[in-house]
Amino acid sequence: MMQKKIVVIAGDGIGQEVTRCAQDVLKLIGAQHGHQFEFDQALMGHVAIEATGDPLPAETLEKCSQADAILLGAVGHPMYDNNPGAKVRPEQGLLKLRKSLELFANIRPIKLFDDLLDSSSLKPEILQGVDILFFRELTSGIYFGSPRERSANGEEAIDTLRYTKDEVRRIAHKAFKAAMTRRKMVCSVDKANVLESSRLWRETVNEVAKEYPEVSLTHMFVDNASMQLIRDPRQFDVVLTGNMFGDILTDEASQIAGSMGMLASASTGTQTSVYEPIHGSAPDIAGKGIANPLAAILSVALMLDLSFGLKEEAQQIEQAIDEVLRSGYRTIDIAGEGLPEDKLLNTQQMSEQVQQALKAKLTLKS
Ligand code: IPM
Ligand code: MG
Repeated sequence: MMQKKIVVIAGDGIGQEVTRCAQDVLKLIGAQHGHQFEFDQALMGHVAIEATGDPLPAETLEKCSQADAILLGAVGHPMYDNNPGAKVRPEQGLLKLRKSLELFANIRPIKLFDDLLDSSSLKPEILQGVDILFFRELTSGIYFGSPRERSANGEEAIDTLRYTKDEVRRIAHKAFKAAMTRRKMVCSVDKANVLESSRLWRETVNEVAKEYPEVSLTHMFVDNASMQLIRDPRQFDVVLTGNMFGDILTDEASQIAGSMGMLASASTGTQTSVYEPIHGSAPDIAGKGIANPLAAILSVALMLDLSFGLKEEAQQIEQAIDEVLRSGYRTIDIAGEGLPEDKLLNTQQMSEQVQQALKAKLTLKS
């Protein structure tokens, strides 16, 4: 029996819809196993700017620092995207949260549910059995380096790609440790043929690798990696990379899982962790109730596993999702062609199916 305080930052757009589902699933699994999960809502992103003028209000940060884990929906709003002049942006909240909580390792598992083999745009025979674990550095690199500014006359802009050996070391250790529990392969992705920061990255990863003699390490340039990922994704076990390369490669890899709507992520550091779907706020479908809640639900499974050590509970959620998919139920993003009308579910219905499947498990057991 566990008692945990979870801060929920629903954020913008579909973040609201999908985190509600994830909380429902968490409550249910908690009730089934005698755990008490206490939820506290906090603001971030566009909704926070609207309410307080600040994309990450101090109150949110304060709540987060006291939480056992944080569940995040998504941030972002189209009104900023075409307005480069906007000084305050929703994404600043997310970046500040990552930096403040020192969430330097973003873990993104890429796995495909068998029943979704056909909903990917890639051929099923290339995808079958894919199991990749991305470690994306999250609090440094070009996202945070300074200077980052526009020249006085507005004609020039600069961002800085900077890494220290310490920053590379700490995420490399996490990646190698994870590899030890898997197929013992790490592929480090960089652009060492061009960038000095990548040469430092590679050198440091090679040094760390010496402490893990059982793990086989390879290096790949990011352009090649982006190609290899769709040519033969099964060659990868753990992929270790920097902030921006990881951002881009994990979006690409989401297609392996059929949809962005299927992927969860954990951002971890030294203290509390943030769990979030890798999809964004999806303004085009926000408010329509048709978003896929499975990435958010998988994010709480990841939370149960990584933050609370509740492996069985986490597995039950994954199995429940597997069963729901096997029964043919789909949200629109993973519907594919020729889906019978009664199998197409909205956000709430998909969440209810997952809960039904969890309830059925308990009935079977008792
Ligand atoms: C992600 C997102 C964010 C990022 C955005 C919203 C700032 O794309 O988590 O991958 O670039 O890190
Ligand atoms: Mg991204």
